[in-house]
Amino acid sequence: MKTDRFTLDGKVTIVTGGGQGIGKVVAGELADQGSDIVIFDLQDATEVANQIAEQHGVSAMALVCDVTDPDQVAKAIDQAADRMGTLDLLFNNAGICLHKPALECTPTDFTKVVDVNLNAIFFVAQAFARWLVAHNKQGNIVNTASMSATIVNIPQGQASYNSSKAGVAHLTKSLAVEWAPLGIRVNSISPGYINTEMTGNVREDWRQIWTDMIPFKRMGSPEELAGAVIYLLSDAATYTSGADLIIDGCFTVV
Ligand SMILES: NC(=O)c1ccc[n+]([C@@H]2O[C@H](COP(=O)([O-])OP(=O)(O)OC[C@H]3O[C@@H](n4cnc5c(N)ncnc54)[C@H](O)[C@@H]3O)[C@@H](O)[C@H]2O)c1
Repeated sequence: MKTDRFTLDGKVTIVTGGGQGIGKVVAGELADQGSDIVIFDLQDATEVANQIAEQHGVSAMALVCDVTDPDQVAKAIDQAADRMGTLDLLFNNAGICLHKPALECTPTDFTKVVDVNLNAIFFVAQAFARWLVAHNKQGNIVNTASMSATIVNIPQGQASYNSSKAGVAHLTKSLAVEWAPLGIRVNSISPGYINTEMTGNVREDWRQIWTDMIPFKRMGSPEELAGAVIYLLSDAATYTSGADLIIDGCFTVV
């Protein structure tokens, strides 16, 4: 009999920021591997969840949740577990980007980006891990960092984003070590430029500069990230924690 180490059959995965973009596409691909899906998003993603359920024959639901609010996150975790019966996996992915030169960044600008991209990643991971521990379960987490954790993007100024993502990469390692004895693996993916709603409205001349700089000479698609998330969440990666997988068409290599 063939063994499929990548299967997510019978698992329940929370996907934050699953209302659109990378989260939406990866949620569908996780469902394709057999996982039930719970989307947490600021926007109502019920339609997305219904489509995933119909297309992949899994259970899927959506909860409106601002991941920067620890109380909302804790409630959403309990609600998700109650409705789905259990929780196993987390794709901790919601994020925002601000293109603003550092000299013009207000305290509110900077704090907002760090709140969503770093603080919320911690709040969701913590609430998820607390639920696992309280229910005597093990589980896995993949955080979405970015190649911006490693390099500084140009020509746009985005110091708030870059530093928040560097924080995610190191938070991932910190949680991986702290939670290793609990059987909770924590890894991150670091995408390069990916075609989503986030990058869709950016100035065309900037997008051209980015494309010229990427050795692959094109931006990636969310589908091209899904395999990495499936791998890191699955039993194919049982000895892997604290790792960051950079998926960027060679951008950070040169
Ligand atoms: N698109 C890229 O080029 C790229 C590159 C590297 C990393 N990333 C990261 O990937 C992740 C997804 O990006 P994307 O391109 O799909 O973005 P997107 O803007 O298309 O989607 C982000 C989703 O997150 C949700 N969200 C935002 N703030 C939230 C909050 N406070 N609470 C709950 N949900 C919230 C939004 O409603 C949206 O559905 C982000 O963390 C982003 O930083 C994206």
